[in-house]
Amino acid sequence: MDIIVIGTGYVGLVTGVCLAEMGNRVTCVDRNPEKIQALEKGLLPIYEPGLGEMMQRNMASKNLFFTTNLTGTMNSPCLCFIAVGTPPRTNGAADIRQVMSVADDIARHMKAPVLVVNKTTAPVGTCDAIIRQIRMGLAARNKTITFDVASNPEFLKEGDAVADFMRPDRIIIGLSQQKAAAIPEIQSQEILSRLYAPFSRNHHKIIFMGMRDAEMTKYAANCMLATKISFMNEMASICENVGADVERVRRGMGADSRIGYDFIYAGCGYGGSCFPKDIQALIRAAEDMGITPDILKAVEKRNFTQKKRLFEKALAFFGGNLSGRHFAIWGLAFKPGTDDMREAPSLSLIQSLMEAGASLVAYDPVAMDTAKAILPSSWLASGRMAMAEHQYAALQGVDALFLVTEWKPFRQPDFAAMKRLMKQPVIFDGRNQFDPEELAKKGFDYKGIGRGR
Ligand code: UGA
Repeated sequence: MDIIVIGTGYVGLVTGVCLAEMGNRVTCVDRNPEKIQALEKGLLPIYEPGLGEMMQRNMASKNLFFTTNLTGTMNSPCLCFIAVGTPPRTNGAADIRQVMSVADDIARHMKAPVLVVNKTTAPVGTCDAIIRQIRMGLAARNKTITFDVASNPEFLKEGDAVADFMRPDRIIIGLSQQKAAAIPEIQSQEILSRLYAPFSRNHHKIIFMGMRDAEMTKYAANCMLATKISFMNEMASICENVGADVERVRRGMGADSRIGYDFIYAGCGYGGSCFPKDIQALIRAAEDMGITPDILKAVEKRNFTQKKRLFEKALAFFGGNLSGRHFAIWGLAFKPGTDDMREAPSLSLIQSLMEAGASLVAYDPVAMDTAKAILPSSWLASGRMAMAEHQYAALQGVDALFLVTEWKPFRQPDFAAMKRLMKQPVIFDGRNQFDPEELAKKGFDYKGIGRGR
């Protein structure tokens, strides 16, 4: 069966490229002609390690194609993935209009049976809405063509997307209520089992459930991960007041197999396009149903205050006034391995420091172009905010360094060189990368997150 992937954002592109890598014939569709032109030249619109090479290889072997519309792509039975965006509305709820417009497009173009698979994170009930939309579209054309819809949420992490897709922890597939006998042309469970078999040794990783279960699984998983982080950030604040080190506490907690070591790193807050958006969307959805989502609201609130922690620490250290101070920032991306700065803690810090009258030099291994595009141009033009060519150049004459993203080159820096370059050897570490005792011995004033008094 040919595969069509609609939407070439992170999820769509990774899905299309990785499915092509397994020998499938994949056509990626995006309504943005400039994006498609660039992709046809082998250029990626995003920074994602390993994806570009894989994409070019599969284009060369004629497994992977790009186009701006569905015309001519649905003449024979096919599998059609939806991977378009669901941006937040002003009230935080997910806007599924792009998904619905794609469902309508599918109904207008399909000429043979189709299995539509939704990969986009969308509110529970979206797959049912897709079914209704396609039925309406077909009815408007006076056609009866068989189709089925499945939910197959994506769990990839930016920066690890290819590895996550090729070797997933689990593959969640939510099936519709349609009985297989009613749709003999599309045996959804069998088709998807076969498609994902190479990614799932002995099929053990595929978990079948209902469509609504799958849609809810995606939200619940992201909210759980965000909850773990916000919980640890709260523990970190308590640690600071009781004289404990959250890093030691983390190791002690993680050793309990029921808790585990993952996603319990305290820091200067979580960012990215997914956690903040999905938490908000689930809060809105719950409230619309008359449920008070106490835990989700607390997670969101804690993250908002957590993003201000580095600024508060600097304010306290410098006696409540940062005007005229000069600072370095290491790391702009919301996490290592990506150039994405959406909801990044660096943004909150930069804004607070600029408002406080400080001047800044920032360095990030890949996100500096993103920063130049999204930060107010007046900041860069004023000379109060600049980008450094390398991490040490950012340190020249600064009153302190803020470490915001834990990129590998920041992990074992040359501390002696740093001390020589900095006006004052002060580090505010938003990712707890260094050992406070070692840094104290080296003569640094070191402030991490949740590391004793
Ligand atoms: C997240 C989920 O991890 C993926 O499973 C999911 O598929 C994806 O959202 C999505 O919904 O599409 P991602 O946003 O790429 O992936 O980033 P994460 O690696 O989860 O990190 C999110 C944020 O949490 C980062 O800012 C990171 O620095 C922070 N974090 C993570 C912590 O502060 N502490 C931790 O222990 C772990």
